[in-house]
Amino acid sequence: MRYGSFIYILLGFVFLSCSQKQTKENETGSSFQQMYQMSEMALLMEDMYSSLEKDRALVEEGKTLGEFPEKFNQIHTGKMTETFERTEEFKRLADLYLQSLNQLYDADVNDPHRATYFNNTVKSCITCHRSDAGCIGPVSRIGKLLIPSKSN
Ligand code: HEC
Repeated sequence: MRYGSFIYILLGFVFLSCSQKQTKENETGSSFQQMYQMSEMALLMEDMYSSLEKDRALVEEGKTLGEFPEKFNQIHTGKMTETFERTEEFKRLADLYLQSLNQLYDADVNDPHRATYFNNTVKSCITCHRSDAGCIGPVSRIGKLLIPSKSN
């Protein structure tokens, strides 16, 4: 009996301290929250992702994409989470992404290869994410951006 209630008290304590952590996190922006804050690079990546989502629709509707989004050149300078490093491989794969994106933005609206250029850009994201320079986590999410080929 005594032992049983001890377990309940323990469980209650664990539960409470978890929710306490949460309120503290929300109220004061403690170091716990800072640990989970997104890096400059992670924010840039999310921006790159949503920009491609928009481009995808425009490519499919045969519309112009507008100006090349220069801000994405920041892939070479944006601060990353400590676990990542700007290695030679990283720089090479970042250039590959920028080149693919340039080719997509340079293409004429009537260019029949626009979907291919778009997919090449998505693949350049995936190439880095599969390599040591990136992280495998978002790969399946990025892959959903691919435009299915019309010939199939
Ligand atoms: C040269 C390598 C490289 C390329 C190219 C690249 N990424 Fe990333 N990506 C990273 C790294 C490194 C991180 C982790 C950044 C950090 O946490 O500081 C990341 C993080 C992410 C994240 C997770 C961000 C988060 O919420 O924490 C997403 C989503 C993402 N990238 C999508 C993309 C998309 C979409 C593209 C192409 C448009 C792309 N990436 C191209 C290296 C790359």
